[in-house]
Amino acid sequence: MMRVVVLASLLSACAAHGIGKPQWEYSGKEGFDHWAEEFPSCNGSQQSPINIDPFFTTVGAFEPLYFSHYHEIPEAESITNNGHSVEVKIKSKNQPQVSGGNLGATYTFVQYHIHWGADDLRGSEHTINHVRYPMELHLVHHKNEYGNLTAALEHPDGVAVLGLLFVISEYDNPSLAPLISHLLSHTAVGEQNVTKDLYPLTSVLPRDLSRFYRYRGSLTTPKCNEVVTWTIFDDHVPVSDKQMARLRSLSDTEGDPLVNNFRPNQPLNGRIVYRSFLK
Ligand SMILES: *[C@@H]1O[C@H](CO)[C@@H](O)[C@H](O)[C@H]1NC(C)=O
Ligand SMILES: *[C@@H]1O[C@H](CO)[C@@H](O)[C@H](O)[C@H]1NC(C)=O
Ligand SMILES: *[C@@H]1O[C@H](CO)[C@@H](O)[C@H](O)[C@H]1NC(C)=O
Ligand SMILES: [Zn+2]
Repeated sequence: MMRVVVLASLLSACAAHGIGKPQWEYSGKEGFDHWAEEFPSCNGSQQSPINIDPFFTTVGAFEPLYFSHYHEIPEAESITNNGHSVEVKIKSKNQPQVSGGNLGATYTFVQYHIHWGADDLRGSEHTINHVRYPMELHLVHHKNEYGNLTAALEHPDGVAVLGLLFVISEYDNPSLAPLISHLLSHTAVGEQNVTKDLYPLTSVLPRDLSRFYRYRGSLTTPKCNEVVTWTIFDDHVPVSDKQMARLRSLSDTEGDPLVNNFRPNQPLNGRIVYRSFLK
């Protein structure tokens, strides 16, 4: 049994949702078909996610990705159900960073969050050959020189997101355990700080970091800023049915099940999708 020290109390639904701010959901009156009405940039021409058809990708000469401080065990993690996703931030002496991989700069880790489905046939945002995976994890980084994510959102090269696609496995993925075990007892919207049994960020990454897809796109939630250099790994990460069930037991701000929090594919509009591997 994993011990998780919960220091936090729940935020109120309104605080998490932002009183007075334009709202958005994945379905219904404020669903993704209506995002552009409140957030015009969601109607841009370089939106994410996309379907990646490997046959129509272009081989690029990529230098390896370089991860620093990704292997360090954080001192604490904050885990937030914000009503749209579950988001993890870490407190560490050194913030993890990623560079290389033709990113052209050093990008500093901000948070990771997850998209998932009501069943195993949906959940991921990116699809490969129109195959949708049960879950997709996004490691969000801001360009180091811009100082923080808010500032980075104003620059076309401001953000680098690493996208991981999951496949169902027989065994639990231990690196997801701190997150998943906290979901046992707290399913409502709110934030908690966890300080025990934490894993380094490297443990969520797939084994093969040399094979990835690369394209220029956007945040997949409003305001859909077109500032993201996307890296989608070809190698998959395991997650068990039991772990998926815990995620699906989360509630949104209305108390409904928090599932199917993914945006549909957006048109490529002539963008080139690169891949780092021959075949
Ligand atoms: C969690 O920790 C962070 C950073 O130490 C702190 O700012 C935040 O208030 C804490 N959250 C709760 C709900 O205690
Ligand atoms: C989105 O863009 C299309 C094509 O430019 C336009 O026809 C449509 O009215 C726009 N929608 C919104 C909500 O701005
Ligand atoms: C983010 O960086 C900008 C530019 O340096 C600065 O003005 C702003 O106060 C920072 N915001 C936060 C939340 O730290
Ligand atoms: Zn995301």
